[in-house]
Amino acid sequence: MELYLDTGNIDEIREIASWGILSGVTTNPTLLSREKGDYKEILKEICNIVKGPVSGEVISMDAESMVKEAQELAKISEHIVIKVPLTVEGIKAISQLSKMGIKTNATLVFSPNQALLAARAGADYVSPFVGRMEDIGHKAESFVKDIITIFKNYNFKTKIIFASVRHPKHVLQAALWGVDIATIPYNVFKKLPSHPMTDIGLKKFLEDWEKR
Ligand code: G3P
Repeated sequence: MELYLDTGNIDEIREIASWGILSGVTTNPTLLSREKGDYKEILKEICNIVKGPVSGEVISMDAESMVKEAQELAKISEHIVIKVPLTVEGIKAISQLSKMGIKTNATLVFSPNQALLAARAGADYVSPFVGRMEDIGHKAESFVKDIITIFKNYNFKTKIIFASVRHPKHVLQAALWGVDIATIPYNVFKKLPSHPMTDIGLKKFLEDWEKR
């Protein structure tokens, strides 16, 4: 499973990228609105650091404007993936962008049928929002597993991004369920390597070594 960082913050991206295990970054208008500076420059810098897929979202509501916006964003870098909301207009835009060879990530996906439409339209990625689904009391397991089954049934190449991650258990679930990618917020990413038994064990090794 590939690990992406879900942030628009350059410092966070530099830090996690230095671990050598970061495959991509996802942003959205909320995340980029928290950062100072021109959002296109920020996306360019992220692409230069990550050198892998970087999702930047369109904010237009109609397909024609979404496509225009996407064409501008795509000029930033070969690594840019256009995040398009899964609306009817979004499906039209994904379909057109796919024919133009511009990579897309269908976002705000909350049902397997939405994922099916995104895949049929030619989306490169689909982002089921697991955390937000659970926030409103729904179970996400069958939702995600149904998408996996549908994509396997028809050999869709669209990759599944487990999005809206809230805690390390979501990362584990993503890996166990077999999604392609988990996009993880910085605070959750930082928790992944930690285990108290590792800290205790390391302390003991070093103490024993000092006594030799
Ligand atoms: O990549 C999706 C993500 O940005 C949404 O996450 O935490 O706002 O539900 P969240």
